[in-house]
Amino acid sequence: MNLERLKMLLTSFGPSGREEGTRKTIIDLIKDHVDGYKVDKVGNLIAWKNGNGKNKKKVLLGAHMDQIGVVVTHVDEKGFLRIEPVGGIIPQILYGSRLNFNGIVGVVGMEEEDGETFKKNLREMTFDNLYVDVLQDVSKLSVGSFGIYDSYPIFKEDLVVSPALDDRIGCAILVELLVNVDTPYNDLYALFSVQEEHSLVGAAVGAFEIDPDLAIAVDVTDSADVPKAHKRISMVLGKGPAIKVMDSMSVSNPKVVELLKDVAERNKIEYQLEVLPFGGTDAYAFERARKGIPSAALSIPTRYIHTPSEVCDLNDADKALEVLKSLVKEEIDL
Ligand code: CO
Ligand code: ZN
Repeated sequence: MNLERLKMLLTSFGPSGREEGTRKTIIDLIKDHVDGYKVDKVGNLIAWKNGNGKNKKKVLLGAHMDQIGVVVTHVDEKGFLRIEPVGGIIPQILYGSRLNFNGIVGVVGMEEEDGETFKKNLREMTFDNLYVDVLQDVSKLSVGSFGIYDSYPIFKEDLVVSPALDDRIGCAILVELLVNVDTPYNDLYALFSVQEEHSLVGAAVGAFEIDPDLAIAVDVTDSADVPKAHKRISMVLGKGPAIKVMDSMSVSNPKVVELLKDVAERNKIEYQLEVLPFGGTDAYAFERARKGIPSAALSIPTRYIHTPSEVCDLNDADKALEVLKSLVKEEIDL
């Protein structure tokens, strides 16, 4: 994994529905390494590399550009903002944190007019009792302005911490694939999708347009290697990417699951299997596009998903990259 490129992706601005900043960053990183790219009507970036294989297949690999964020719903006469989540942000995480509205920074405060209210609001925190205290000229913001967690990535040994790992780590893996694979055997289509955290609209129209033989979403999943983690999940950091068998929104196509296992095993790449009792990915939209596309997901185990400090192990991302490299370089029998 190229850390400079990963850092650029993690620090780009791309809340769901406002992915232009991230898209521009990705275009700059890949444009000299692909056979073509385009931006579709909903804002997806689709980039491709033509395969030279005799029995080549069309492979869609997807990562979502967007990250969870907030949108301004009201600006009061003193310039304090009220907000609504865009994607899965829980209000408890916001109190005292910093938000970044594309360069304009604010701090999240909570109404606490008396002791009782303070205690009650702490217990029952909702977007109704939170506000944003903007630290600079608020006149550039209005109802409809989008924001993200304001936090810089940090790298400690093999771990990376950032609020944007979901799913810039997936974008980084696909960027490395496009930059590092010269001529694939299969036709490789990288779909950098919009609005996964909100509606999956990007994955739905992207898969329709590309019309692939198979599709794989590269995204994050939960990790159970922390105190009192979810009892019924198995994924951990540092043991390789997780081949998703199922989550609450889709069951991966068994043939694609077997294909990914086979590629990993033949190339001696460590992997895990994933069953997630909650959540979903772009694969949900891929599998119902057109007449149904055989789909699965390859996941990077991540701690504290959807908080300002998501944590991944870079070794898992590197191993996911190896699996996908092998997949696009080999004949696929599906
Ligand atoms: Co997410
Ligand atoms: Zn994601």
